[in-house]
Amino acid sequence: MKRRSCGALRASDDGARAELCGWVHRRRDHGGLIFIDLRDRDGITQIVFDPQHTAFGDAEHLRNEDVLRVRGRVRKRPEGTENAKLATGAVEVAVDELEILNRSQVPPFQVNLDENPEESLRLEYRYLDLRRPRMQRNLTIRHRIIKAMRDFFDEHEFIEIETPMLIKGTPEGARDYLVPSRLYPGTFYALPQSPQLLKQICMIAGFGRYMQIARCMRDEDLRSDRQPEFTQLDVEMSFSSQEEVLEVMESCMHFVWKRVLGVELAPFPRMGFAYAMERYGTDKPDLRFGLELARVGDLFASTEFAVFASALSGGGEVVAVRYPGGAALSRREFDALVDEAKHLGAKGMVWVALGSDGAKSSAQRFVGEEHAKSIAQRLGAERGDALLLFADERDAAFAVAGKMRSEVGRRCGLRRNDAFAFCWVTDFPYLEIDEETGKPTPAHHPFTAPAEGEWDLIERDPLRMRAQHYDMVLNGYELGSGSIRIHKPELQRRIFEMLGMSREQVEEQFGFFVRALDYGAPPHGGMALGIDRIAMIACGEENLHEVIAFPKTQTARDLMMDAPSPASEKQLRELHLSVPKKKER
Ligand code: AMO
Repeated sequence: MKRRSCGALRASDDGARAELCGWVHRRRDHGGLIFIDLRDRDGITQIVFDPQHTAFGDAEHLRNEDVLRVRGRVRKRPEGTENAKLATGAVEVAVDELEILNRSQVPPFQVNLDENPEESLRLEYRYLDLRRPRMQRNLTIRHRIIKAMRDFFDEHEFIEIETPMLIKGTPEGARDYLVPSRLYPGTFYALPQSPQLLKQICMIAGFGRYMQIARCMRDEDLRSDRQPEFTQLDVEMSFSSQEEVLEVMESCMHFVWKRVLGVELAPFPRMGFAYAMERYGTDKPDLRFGLELARVGDLFASTEFAVFASALSGGGEVVAVRYPGGAALSRREFDALVDEAKHLGAKGMVWVALGSDGAKSSAQRFVGEEHAKSIAQRLGAERGDALLLFADERDAAFAVAGKMRSEVGRRCGLRRNDAFAFCWVTDFPYLEIDEETGKPTPAHHPFTAPAEGEWDLIERDPLRMRAQHYDMVLNGYELGSGSIRIHKPELQRRIFEMLGMSREQVEEQFGFFVRALDYGAPPHGGMALGIDRIAMIACGEENLHEVIAFPKTQTARDLMMDAPSPASEKQLRELHLSVPKKKER
């Protein structure tokens, strides 16, 4: 007799004998019969125990999550009892043989509920959490995405090359995870923040087209879209222009979405960094909806409103956001919105409600009907909408208005998780000012090539220099970054110098790499996409935990294995490490 999966049987199997293995998803006793939903990765099948069969006695003691093997006859369900929600819903299996393969303790949460159990329980008992159909579906989609990526790149003559985990640090802006060496006391390997330098070396080694499904480790502050360990689709190509890299990466996404989700994507719109910042207040614009920002400072050039006047006189800006239907908000709701804006980083917020009886504003004396009309015109706002105004230093005003735009999008139901709005952002500045140190640091990484014709800015005005760097953005998330790289050793050395590194520091950290550039490095470029983020959005989820089998908590712990955990005295000794006792730390 053939073993079938729990998602396989259909009406056409009526009368056949079948064997099924799986877990008790749910049990119901009904009209003298016992019904069990038997579950495996593939689905759920209803199995029925009749009191006339010997198996019935054992079935009476079955509990959720017990593991069974059953044999019986497939039959159509009686009319009116079919379940259209299940692929197997037209049939059931009348069981005549039951083997209990294993028993389960009462689980700490029900596997058969749709809503998520408490987070820490989910992570501690991950094996139970992963049994939930939603998680099985998500990890299956993730698998299909990765499979589609590999197939795509294989068809396009890329080869997958595995790069090592124990390396010398590759900087991507986070802290390294270090691994102490037993053989070389006092020295450490770093785990890769990305395979950046190694993939470039693969280009120097003549492989031409590289890809890798690459694990990366970064010790950084975590958020719902960041994990200390994550997976990249990492790509590098020789002799290719930026245009060619964008084309390959975009085609790959079209291929993956079509194959895995059956969705035909439109060509990705492109915009420069400066444009994105002005329209959306962010370099990760969510294009599922419009609601572009508008600068309106010029309308208040002679205002007596101190808040706007002081921002404008200091070279700042007033930036406006449209809130469709926002005029219906009560005063109290507007107050709450002001608090929300402050929470997002605003110094304050002025609102204007375009009601049927004229414009009302939280700064009524200074923002009159004429102002409201002009602002509404710039934003494309209509009667019934509200206008939200933010005054601050220029970048800060755009940034907070951009965050509020996103919040308005959420409130108006415009951030649908079945919509996929991709775009490219290009023409990034080469440098940004590091918030912690106040020093210029590469916006991407120091291997990125400056924009064509802008090399001379390295000496004259490095902060004005742009990079051959591009980001792929989806629904307001950065999916990936890439760049055309520096392949001339002298330019690479100048960039390190510009970043304030001494010759010795360059030699110590990147000597091997700059030397490799000295031996005929071809022009090359590439990109890496975050597979966890791609899977999260493709699955309609909002947290990476939903698409990673064994994720870490927000505080970088593995609750199931209880990691990190102390090492034994013997291990520490072998690694030449000593850990101060708690009191000394
Ligand atoms: P970057 O650092 O932008 O570029 O990383 C590329 C993409 O990887 C994903 N990502 C993460 N996902 C989950 N958790 C994290 N902590 C995390 N950090 C990054 C994001 C991000 O866009 N070497 C370059 C690529 C290149 O230039 O080719 C790099 O790693 O989706």
